[in-house]
Amino acid sequence: MMKETADFIFRGINSPVEQAEYTWQSPSNIALVKYWGKKGDQLPANASLSFTLSQCVTTTTVIFGKRGSDRQNLQLFLDGEEQKAFGQKAFSFLDKIRGFQPFLQDYHIQIHTKNSFPHSSGIASSASGMSALALCCMSLEKELNGNVDSDFFYEKASFLARIGSGSASRSVYSKFAMWGQHHEYANGSDLYAIQVPEKEVHKDFHTFRDTILLIDQGKKSVSSTVGHSLLDKHPFRDERYQTANNNITELKHILEKGDIEAFGNLVEQEALMLHALMMSGPESFILMKPNTLAVIEKVRNWRTETGTQLFFTLDAGANVHLLYPESAEPIVLEFIQNELIVYCEDKNYICDNVGEGPQQLMP
Ligand code: PMV
Repeated sequence: MMKETADFIFRGINSPVEQAEYTWQSPSNIALVKYWGKKGDQLPANASLSFTLSQCVTTTTVIFGKRGSDRQNLQLFLDGEEQKAFGQKAFSFLDKIRGFQPFLQDYHIQIHTKNSFPHSSGIASSASGMSALALCCMSLEKELNGNVDSDFFYEKASFLARIGSGSASRSVYSKFAMWGQHHEYANGSDLYAIQVPEKEVHKDFHTFRDTILLIDQGKKSVSSTVGHSLLDKHPFRDERYQTANNNITELKHILEKGDIEAFGNLVEQEALMLHALMMSGPESFILMKPNTLAVIEKVRNWRTETGTQLFFTLDAGANVHLLYPESAEPIVLEFIQNELIVYCEDKNYICDNVGEGPQQLMP
């Protein structure tokens, strides 16, 4: 049943906890139909649909220690080193979710986090990072309250992660997830993401590959927060939201049928539309680099020449995600080695695939 905001308010402490430590590993995800534009309080202007990755993960341990009347102490360590600025982000997130987890203010909180992918790779760590943190907070809620079943656990983790970063709401599920109200998904909600039922996804998509070519590992010139807000004034705004919602309908049927050609066509259109919106808005910006376009051209030509089902998508950056079925892996990896690696910064790329979702590593 679909939940309202009030359903996520904490239901009270049944067994007090003095000290606790939880570790979650949570993946990043790649959007096929993109979330770009918000409404209200961190709600999406259109529905989005992604698949969860397997190799690009954040591992986060949160240590909660009960505090007395002393001032709350919050610390964040990234790769073992304390990070004040990065910590601020995590703490403003904890502040925002306090209305739904009031018990957080009773604890000193120490966060230890690390990413499997290079910090400066241009791969957004917000989806994996915020979802890992939200899952640790949910582990404490479960221990305090006791009556938290698995469905509620992940729905609320998604709800909390969304408040930190919209795309993070989709990272708490395995395989395919969608976020946003949509007539094709009766349980779809703007407040949290849901899993696309496995039986609605053709087997060929369950093992799909995503090889991420790291084109530019520098910091993005425009953050996604600013990018979302620029949509408000965009002349194509309403058409974009309509198109994205139509693409969700189309993608649902493509996933069911296993139509890989139609899938590729749709995801490439989505990626280029995302970047076309950035370029054509009143405050125009470009996140693609010359090598992004060089790769796109090579991929399209090679596809025509060889008939291989190799497609691309982009997120809000210069890196190219190459999407292809498992069966094409040997030939695609050879193509990358021979022809695409020259476009990658320091010859770096990451081989990833549709993943199994977050994992609790401790306790
Ligand atoms: O979750 P945010 O605010 O970082 O926005 C993510 C935006 C895109 O990655 C471009 C699209 C998406 O749906 O993930």
